[in-house]
Amino acid sequence: MRTPKEFYRPLAVGAPLPLTEVPARPSRVIHFFDPSNEKMAAKVPAMVGTVDVLLGNLEDAVKADRKVAAREGLVAIAKATDFGENTQLWARVNALDSPWVLDDLTTLVTEIGDRLDVVMVPKVQGPEDIHYVDRLLAQLEARAGLQRPILVHAILETARGVANVEAIAGASPRMQGMSLGPADLAADRRMKTTRVGGGHPGYLVRQDPAVVDGAPDIHGESSPRATYQQDLWHYTIARMVDACAMHGIFPYYGPFGDIADVVACEDQFRNAFLLGCVGTWSLHPAQVAIAKRVFSPSPEDVAHARRVVAAMGDGTGAVMLDGKMEDDASLKQCLVIVELAERLARTDPELAELYAAVPGEGPAGAEEGAR
Ligand code: GLV
Ligand code: MG
Repeated sequence: MRTPKEFYRPLAVGAPLPLTEVPARPSRVIHFFDPSNEKMAAKVPAMVGTVDVLLGNLEDAVKADRKVAAREGLVAIAKATDFGENTQLWARVNALDSPWVLDDLTTLVTEIGDRLDVVMVPKVQGPEDIHYVDRLLAQLEARAGLQRPILVHAILETARGVANVEAIAGASPRMQGMSLGPADLAADRRMKTTRVGGGHPGYLVRQDPAVVDGAPDIHGESSPRATYQQDLWHYTIARMVDACAMHGIFPYYGPFGDIADVVACEDQFRNAFLLGCVGTWSLHPAQVAIAKRVFSPSPEDVAHARRVVAAMGDGTGAVMLDGKMEDDASLKQCLVIVELAERLARTDPELAELYAAVPGEGPAGAEEGAR
């Protein structure tokens, strides 16, 4: 274990100083592209400014015989593209036990390290994986003469990773965040699903049976028993959110593979947003607008939150608004919404306009109240 003093020292002579806070740049949508796919790669420059993060994917979904082309393609795109102020460049490297990852990291950091904000590391099992990447990145940053550290994002997609989630989140000051990897996680846990993210009709609870002539009608012959689909990912996302919040890093949903089902996709994204996630992956342009909408607070919520903030004055005590008690704790929730809205509005003119149109009603209408 590193001592508190050592934690913020560079891990290689000449490497940049670690950051003490993760920069809170918008990352509602992490748009994946395959740099070995020329058609897809050609669309990247036009997506700058339309998504918060463009991620060059070198791992799964890139065929083994295209790995080198993907790595080289990403280097070429990064060198040729101006990502501006509002779009970050991330890369998903291959798994740490694969034959490609050493060259992925070496090439990316030394060739385009000054353009790369975050390296996404798949199949992280425990803090030892982050320690390995941490030291290697420091050595490569020193070699490349980089002035700011490249951050690390872990994908939570193994049972051991979930068991170690707190230790992973706190393994290095480089840790930027974590995403759920539902496809690999399902396989690793030996779940009996065949999908990439989302729910499953078989994972449900059923309404109690009606009692007919003193006996439970378990087959629902008198009236059908309603069923309610449950969320397979609730437990993992909730654990991930707590681990990330505890360590001051950011949690994300991951891939939603049913591109055509934009409705269920929106539901999954919204569950993650409500539970505390700040963003998600998009695998197709159709998911970009969904992610941006869902991971930006709604104008109605912003208006309500502003109203509570105004009504709460110095932030202590309690007031009644529309028959509901508001106090220091509900104020803190409202501040999360208002601060997020203001941060997003700074880089998203459409949102700025939307939020400006709902200024909130201020303290008028607030009634003095007690608990
Ligand atoms: C993502 O990488 C996943 O496995 O779901
Ligand atoms: Mg995966």
